Amino acid sequence: MEEVKKTLYSAVQPTNTLTIGNYAGAIRNFVRLQDEYRCFYAIANMHAITVRQNPAELRQKTLGLLATYIACGVDPDKCTLYVQSHVPAHAELAWVLNTFTYVGEMERMTQFKDKSARHADNINMGLMDYPVLMAADILLYNADVVPVGIDQRQHLEITRDIAIRFNNIYSPTFVVPEGLYTKVGAKINDLQDPSKKMSKSAENPNGTIFMDDTKDTIIRKFKRAVTDSDSEVRYDEENKPGVSNLLSIYSSFTGKTIPEAEAEFAGKGYGDFKLAVGEAVADVLEPVQKETARLLSDRKYLDDIFRKGAEDAAHVANKTLDKVYRKIGFYRCGN
Ligand code: TRP
Repeated sequence: MEEVKKTLYSAVQPTNTLTIGNYAGAIRNFVRLQDEYRCFYAIANMHAITVRQNPAELRQKTLGLLATYIACGVDPDKCTLYVQSHVPAHAELAWVLNTFTYVGEMERMTQFKDKSARHADNINMGLMDYPVLMAADILLYNADVVPVGIDQRQHLEITRDIAIRFNNIYSPTFVVPEGLYTKVGAKINDLQDPSKKMSKSAENPNGTIFMDDTKDTIIRKFKRAVTDSDSEVRYDEENKPGVSNLLSIYSSFTGKTIPEAEAEFAGKGYGDFKLAVGEAVADVLEPVQKETARLLSDRKYLDDIFRKGAEDAAHVANKTLDKVYRKIGFYRCGN
């Protein structure tokens, strides 16, 4: 009997440059999940514009993200890769869902409060409505699971609340999605401040390895990574956060276990250790960077994937939207 795969939905905003944290945490998971689930991976450019973007960069990063995904092993024949704005149903469902969402709920969202503080000159309606658009994304595809990090957990909760609310008022319409909290994928911290998650917007760029850093830059950043005053390469998050972070990165990029890595560097100094971590990361990134560049030179190939992706996505999304329009009483002309 053929097994029916569950549906998985995820989206990433085409803003900023990806870091090895995104790679080890999110992108590699996308690759791992694509066989197990029916996957929809969107590039959330409609979410991106809730803070002001440079138009040329937004365009370029949209294409760049697709190229990077494919270069990392996300297979367009297995998953649906598409641009959010290419499927109008997202905006259409978001409008309907707005009428099932309370202003107070949105005002209480942690990310809205954070972003309002950071972009005090542009607290636009889109910023406030961000979680509703995200609910529309997820609900359009009848997603069973959504892989989420801690920062998106509240948004998934509100998605579930909105879905349940709608289902209760009408009749079961939306699949109520579950969060997929995977243990796989290392948590990678900042090289300069290992108490913080590695972030694309860190104050000190030396603490972050970007996906497009050259080998020289990568080695230089690892050489400068913060460690501690003893000299033992040993995993101890509490007392040796810098070294532990480097061990996690090494393990994540070589596939070796932490004990294997500890054994490998027993009796060696931090200098050798840091160099080895840098080389391990550069060895993984180099072929990805080459393939990304090659793909970016083939615009037609990438556009074809986006066209096909939008078509497949719209096919599913429009069915859900039709169902919603019917239930809420939007008039449809007869045939
Ligand atoms: N808000 C998510 C982020 O910034 C991106 C996103 C948009 C998303 N729509 C989604 C994630 C739907 C999961 C499901 O990370």
